[in-house]
Amino acid sequence: MIEKRDLPAVSLDSMNMMHYEEADLINSVLHKIENGEECAVTKALQTLLEHMQKHFGFEEEMLKNRGFAMFDIHRNDHTRIMGETRMAYMNWRNFKDRDALKEFIEEEFIQWLNLHIQAMDSVAADFLKRLEDS
Ligand SMILES: [Fe+2]
Ligand SMILES: [Fe+2]
Repeated sequence: MIEKRDLPAVSLDSMNMMHYEEADLINSVLHKIENGEECAVTKALQTLLEHMQKHFGFEEEMLKNRGFAMFDIHRNDHTRIMGETRMAYMNWRNFKDRDALKEFIEEEFIQWLNLHIQAMDSVAADFLKRLEDS
């Protein structure tokens, strides 16, 4: 499980809200892996993927065409985890391996989210905040 209060907070509330929503959906996937039907796991994973797209699109839309030096690096990091999560989804569809999916979410996805917020989103939020304030 992922605790919202453990997620790094950034200087833009709209970004934090997006991260909290994502944490809820991650917990929902983990919950369904523990005691849900296979189709409920599939559904929760699809909902998470949709939310990731919304989350990344939201950030990229705010950052593009604003001279943000880290834009490409940031977007590439989104694209990479999107690809890895789609792969985990395909593996789930093919093999229905709960342990493998749980391992991906807990060992890779949650770690990625924490690191990404610390290294990229916090810098992006500070940049946007400065634009807002000036
Ligand atoms: Fe983010
Ligand atoms: Fe991001």
